[in-house]
Amino acid sequence: MIILGIETSCDETAAAVLEKKGGCIQILSNIVASSSELQSKYGGIIPEQAAREQIKAIVPVIQEALEQAKTKPDQLDAIAITFGPGLIGSLLVGVETAKTLAQIWQKPLIPINHLLGHFYANWITPQQPSFPCIGLLVSGGHTDLVLFTDHGKYQYLGGTRDDAAGECFDKCARLLGLSYPGGPEISKLAEKGDANAFSLPRPMMGSKDFDFSFSGLKTAVSHEVKEGVNKFDLSASIEAAIIDVLVEKTVTAVQKYKVEQVMIAGGVAANQKLVRKLQDTITKLQTKIKLHVPPPSLCTDNGAMIAATAFFTNPTKDPLKIEANPNLSLESS
Ligand code: KG4
Ligand code: ZN
Repeated sequence: MIILGIETSCDETAAAVLEKKGGCIQILSNIVASSSELQSKYGGIIPEQAAREQIKAIVPVIQEALEQAKTKPDQLDAIAITFGPGLIGSLLVGVETAKTLAQIWQKPLIPINHLLGHFYANWITPQQPSFPCIGLLVSGGHTDLVLFTDHGKYQYLGGTRDDAAGECFDKCARLLGLSYPGGPEISKLAEKGDANAFSLPRPMMGSKDFDFSFSGLKTAVSHEVKEGVNKFDLSASIEAAIIDVLVEKTVTAVQKYKVEQVMIAGGVAANQKLVRKLQDTITKLQTKIKLHVPPPSLCTDNGAMIAATAFFTNPTKDPLKIEANPNLSLESS
């Protein structure tokens, strides 16, 4: 089965062609065009600008994905498209393009929740997760803990009440005068810093629920930023504070629900210190618990994860009825 996956929920314009043979999912092509240079210049995403760039990029990106995969449209079994959550202008570019192509090529259309899509990057690896599995999604817009019991079946455990983990990285980076996206920038400086140099809060770390809150951490960082501040030490302290909270909550969920499978997903899952700390803590808990982490290139937004999710999702009966939903969440769906 061959699926074209299209993703335009935020600033990336992405398309990928994936093939599923037996249980194995293989990437035939994976193209990501980003307007990140513009974002670095303006310190973040300007929604209208992102959508304008995507209108220019979407057709060439899909063409390149098909060419690289050496796949003709008539060889496709379906088209998968992110229909939410995200920026409305950006989502519309992808959704309307996918609907048009599905009509012209007469292909089934599979609408995908972007947040679920992030988790399915873990299925594009030789060792796919099994169920039940605790999933931690940490991206620029979301921080969610979920208990998966099967494909498409999950219990929402908790999420952030304010800023997402990636958003906290980005906002702290901005306070430090670093460029966007801030996560990789902070992580780079953190390598040369002392994580104990600043005592920053770990918001909600001891709370009995699985909710998160990161806006207080950002405020605490804003009080530390002054002329001559050691950016290496402050970066290391920020990174450690965010990671401590994420690891603690995830491990508590693993213990409570007695699972042996854990997966992380989303842009912040590309943070190698998070991966190491989570792996170490889990191993200390019980050696047979398996942690799944996508390769860094599949942690941030891409079309491959959308196509991968589609292998486990039913096509919609009426493709023309699919509508972009900027407020889609894991909690409500
Ligand atoms: O999943 P993603 O590409 O987009 C959303 O769906 O939001 O995640 C982007 C987020 C940004 O906030 C970025 O700063 C963060 O992921 N990020 C990282 C790293 N790489 C990307 N955060 C920490 N460490 C990284 N290495
Ligand atoms: Zn994302």
